[in-house]
Amino acid sequence: MTAPRHVAPSTPPSRKSSRTERKSLMKSYFVTTPIYYVNAKPHLGHAYTTVVADALARYHKLSGEDTLFLTGTDEHGDKIVQAAEKEGKAPKEFVDGISARFQELWPQLGVANDRFVRTTDEQHIRAVQRFLQKVYDAGDIYFGEFGGHYCYGCERFYTEKELENGLCPQHQTKPEFISEKNYFFKMSKYLPWLREYIEQHPDFIRPERYRNELLGMLDSGGLEDLCISRPKSRLTWGIELPFDKDYVCYVWFDALLNYISALGWPEGDYARYWPGEHLVAKDILKPHGIFWPTMLKAAGMPLYKRLNVHGYWLVRDTKMSKSLGNVVDPVDMCRRFGQDAFRYFLLREMHFGSDASFSEDAFISRTNADLANDLGNLFSRVLSMCAKYCDSKVPEAGPLNDEDKAVAELAADALRNFRQLFGNVQFSQALESLWELVRALNKYVDAQAPWTLYKNGDTLRLGTVMQVLLTAMRKVAVCVWPVMPQASVTLLRQLGQDVSDTAVPVASLDAEEDDFTLLTPGTALAASSNLFPRRDMPAPTTPPAGEKKAKKEKKAPAAATPAPGEISFDHFKAVDMRVGTIRHAEKHPDADRILRLEIDFGEGQTRQILSGLAEYYAPQDLIGKQVCAVLNLAPRKIRGLVSCGMVLTAEKDGKLCLLQPADAMPEGSGIA
Ligand code: ME8
Ligand code: MG
Repeated sequence: MTAPRHVAPSTPPSRKSSRTERKSLMKSYFVTTPIYYVNAKPHLGHAYTTVVADALARYHKLSGEDTLFLTGTDEHGDKIVQAAEKEGKAPKEFVDGISARFQELWPQLGVANDRFVRTTDEQHIRAVQRFLQKVYDAGDIYFGEFGGHYCYGCERFYTEKELENGLCPQHQTKPEFISEKNYFFKMSKYLPWLREYIEQHPDFIRPERYRNELLGMLDSGGLEDLCISRPKSRLTWGIELPFDKDYVCYVWFDALLNYISALGWPEGDYARYWPGEHLVAKDILKPHGIFWPTMLKAAGMPLYKRLNVHGYWLVRDTKMSKSLGNVVDPVDMCRRFGQDAFRYFLLREMHFGSDASFSEDAFISRTNADLANDLGNLFSRVLSMCAKYCDSKVPEAGPLNDEDKAVAELAADALRNFRQLFGNVQFSQALESLWELVRALNKYVDAQAPWTLYKNGDTLRLGTVMQVLLTAMRKVAVCVWPVMPQASVTLLRQLGQDVSDTAVPVASLDAEEDDFTLLTPGTALAASSNLFPRRDMPAPTTPPAGEKKAKKEKKAPAAATPAPGEISFDHFKAVDMRVGTIRHAEKHPDADRILRLEIDFGEGQTRQILSGLAEYYAPQDLIGKQVCAVLNLAPRKIRGLVSCGMVLTAEKDGKLCLLQPADAMPEGSGIA
């Protein structure tokens, strides 16, 4: 007899494992963000790392793993003391206030962290002291005299060699020369070992460019032992060294230990979740890539599994900064556009590892194209057809033909690619491969023309087509859960699935990938779907003063100022006009003068547009005709149906006439 699949040979099939036993058999996954400084309010950059961590945690939960997701705040050090002083507050009062703001922020972005660590937590302080004592007892911490150029902004000493014209290379400010007695961690002792470890574990730091950057740092010879204390005479806001009451711990040595203190090290959940994966941006590569692994090695502990390093979000290619007035507020974005669209944009737009540029224009084009047109349109048209043709129920299907099988195969491929890429932190590419499926499904609708099957009374074939679509749509709805949790739940409910607001929506991603029979005929469906409304492009605005200054050299040609009654060229350019082909036309069920058109604008983009043409054209005469349309009008609801755009017409003797291109054009050709 062969053993059933998925059962390990050593486990007798009859043995019933208890809940806790099963939990301990599950693969564990632990993911962290940096703990953020509480000297400023959270912006787009903090939101990105945290949304990525949330998406990864959700993805691993969806894969059936025992997952823990940690974020938190970094509350010690000079910077915090200075920020508190500025507000006339005691450090503790100040950090309590800002840490609370971070904790309140995350749910607004759909972030569901399992734990939140603060470096002022009692449990954290005890763990740091215990760790320091351990390394001290092992002989890797010594007391010595040290003079160096100290930058308060970076909270670190610079050697003469590292300064640029005597200034801090990060802040371009003059560091203070400080000479004092301090405690040092023998980091240099572990550097040759670290170099070899990174060489031998190509997956330890990713993407590769940051691994190379670290190897470069290790080869430069610029690394020495790490000063890990500050005398209380200079700074008291920190964790006291267990072996010398006159000193507090250096803020980075303290902060890095959050990743294990939050697990309750050396007890608690430490054994269950460590080692984990870290997410950081390139600014803090060195402490995570060099200090942290050597600290763990000195304490005789296992290293983290992986360090995932991403690039920087820029705003219109300029660094985000308060003084330039271009800081993007994530809460404001979510309030205006919804958390799902914001999260989707973050993950889709940035290639993990490289810098990305944020602008509202880019946000609106991306979400209009991918969410309103591709995904939103698919759900909206399929569910409204099911309402009309199948009584809003999953229909019975007949045998699959080759085209149906091709869709099923494409779905399996898309999910396989999606999973492989997502787990590999290639979120943008993962979403792109899922959207290949979304766009193919829109094309399949056009090719199968369910409206014709309905007209011809071909019920069995109609049922098959609709079931193929609904089954593939379910797969998409599940896969977007890590990225767009709220939308995923709504879409799954529209497909008649009983899912909770917070729990993982399906039992297993493996089944979603392989099985094409997951919808039960007869399941009730929503009659319509309009989850992602199209957005208007913002009117061109003058950039903030700082941005103008930063780009002063590039002088743009002077734009003519529009006279009263004229519009600027930029305004005209903002109107998105295109050629499309009418694939389907029918009378609006509740408005006599209106036709409901489905217009193909190429690349799988089909739109529903309503137009007051019913008195002048018979619907069947319009099919196949090319028309000109405006695409970026705000959607309008007319008697229960939504119109996503406007068809251009001319009027003669009170009769409307469609405007058409003189020659046949490819769908989606721009009009200018
Ligand atoms: O460094 N683009 O905290 P921090 C992308 N407390 N990500 C950005 C970003 C941008 N423009 N700006 C900031 C600290 N980030 C320490 C960490 S960890 C033990 C201690 C994100 O408040 C990114 O994750 O300066 C970056 O690494 C982090 O914020 C720095 O946060
Ligand atoms: Mg920083």
